[in-house]
Amino acid sequence: MKIWAHRGCSQRYPENTLLAFEKAIKLNNLTGIELDIQLTKDGEIVVIHDERVDRTTESIGFVRDYALAELKRLHIYADVNQSQQIPTMEEVFDLIEPRLKTGMKVNIELKNSVYPYPGMEEKILDLAAKRGVEDAIVFSSFSAKSMERIKKLNPKAETGILDSKVSDCLYKLRGTGADALHPYWKGIDLLPDRIKEYTVRAWFTGHLYPEKPTGTRLDLSELEKSGITDVFLNEPEMYIN
Ligand code: G3P
Ligand code: CA
Repeated sequence: MKIWAHRGCSQRYPENTLLAFEKAIKLNNLTGIELDIQLTKDGEIVVIHDERVDRTTESIGFVRDYALAELKRLHIYADVNQSQQIPTMEEVFDLIEPRLKTGMKVNIELKNSVYPYPGMEEKILDLAAKRGVEDAIVFSSFSAKSMERIKKLNPKAETGILDSKVSDCLYKLRGTGADALHPYWKGIDLLPDRIKEYTVRAWFTGHLYPEKPTGTRLDLSELEKSGITDVFLNEPEMYIN
């Protein structure tokens, strides 16, 4: 089973922050980091899960209504003494690029199924090309159209289709040229034989921000039997070092 850090090491550290990613890159046996991108009012790529800043910062409103400089003034608190900023994709690349060039991957989830963010695909592909890390990236989205667009712009880009059920991922994948299925871990509603030719990366929900370590381990071998090849875990440090 391949292990990914979901929003970084997001169980113990605030999700989608440089701190959570710093902890993740220290895990030698990590397959990759998963993160989420949105666009600011002035068109910058920022790493934040929600369309709004309300849940993770002290402010309110949509990411797309803030200029980058305004977003940078907000705080993400892990605890009362320690705060982080919303990182830009450039800042995350600055941190993880050495690992990307030595085998680690990053799954960049385009958060464009609620608000379409015109031009987001071009922007992230251009940035990946500028940094020379295209081969280390898996792009994903709940929007199959967006993944189709990524493939059209760069046929070599690796893509994955997100949905709750694996059957819906498979249905949405048709015609997009996507390479992988990204279902919810409890959404494996097809027999292993039907999905055995695919990479199946399963995601979890739960204690996303910021929670105490759970100290519990799932039986990954059971998940493997159902056809799952990779898992996005909030607490990958429980499984690998
Ligand atoms: O990419 C897998 C997973 O992160 C999708 O759900 O809501 O955590 O972004 P979410
Ligand atoms: Ca995500």
